[in-house]
Amino acid sequence: MSLLDGRCAIVSGAARGQGAAEARALAAEGAFVVLGDILDDQGRAVAAEIGGQARYARLDVTSAKDWDAAVALAEREFGRVQILVNNAGVLRHGPVQSTSPQDFCAVLDVNLLGTYLGIRAVLDSMRAAGGGSIVNISSVGGMLGTPGAVAYVTSKWAVRGLTKAAASDLARFGIRVNSVHPGAIATDMIADGGFDAERFIEGHKARMPIRRMGVPEDVASVAVFLAGPNSSYMTGAELAVDGGWLIS
Ligand SMILES: NC(=O)c1ccc[n+]([C@@H]2O[C@H](COP(=O)([O-])OP(=O)(O)OC[C@H]3O[C@@H](n4cnc5c(N)ncnc54)[C@H](O)[C@@H]3O)[C@@H](O)[C@H]2O)c1
Repeated sequence: MSLLDGRCAIVSGAARGQGAAEARALAAEGAFVVLGDILDDQGRAVAAEIGGQARYARLDVTSAKDWDAAVALAEREFGRVQILVNNAGVLRHGPVQSTSPQDFCAVLDVNLLGTYLGIRAVLDSMRAAGGGSIVNISSVGGMLGTPGAVAYVTSKWAVRGLTKAAASDLARFGIRVNSVHPGAIATDMIADGGFDAERFIEGHKARMPIRRMGVPEDVASVAVFLAGPNSSYMTGAELAVDGGWLIS
């Protein structure tokens, strides 16, 4: 018997990086997983690699309609949704003085509104299942005033707040909501966000108490812990997975 046997999970942003690792880790513990993303080919490939326990859904997290369709697919294929990992996110380089309102809102739409819509979309299913666990992927950027990424940092602080508000509202339904705060994790996000990946990685390795970059699996194992029964008395909590960044 595995930790999450037969539970139905949705992971957003699961076509690559941490989301793909979270989907694989949940499935390895026996969960059925719907992988959502806007990178259809990559998402389908990860779902196919996981096998019969997984399905891919096109899921733009800023669309309530896409969320409803993903939940409907999950229920049709695997039953009531008991786990949601709100992982999809975008990083855009830019300090406050040069970030346009449009760019600011675009990041908040994915990172914050997308997380909120995900929580709303699974509510009825989780309530019908008798409860569930929602894991919101924030960032150490949601605990620090990291320079050069005003929209991202703002969005990740807001995800932290949303987690606590939702945890308070949903505890009565048996739904737990916690946040994970990754530090520097080696994924495509760093270069895609407009950062010099090599400089970023070397700088972080030199400064972190644990002198390596994180890997997606470092975060995935914590998401599995929060998704499952070993964290049953935790809600509204925040776990940093940062190699000691916050204490450095
Ligand atoms: N990599 C890091 O150092 C780091 C650090 C802290 C937090 N995070 C957070 O971890 C999460 C995963 O990031 P990652 O490092 O795997 O990066 P990534 O860029 O590899 O993965 C992000 C995924 O989200 C998807 N996505 C983007 N916009 C979307 C949308 N509108 N709808 C659905 N999917 C969308 C992307 O297609 C991609 O597959 C993000 O929330 C990110 O902010 C990352």
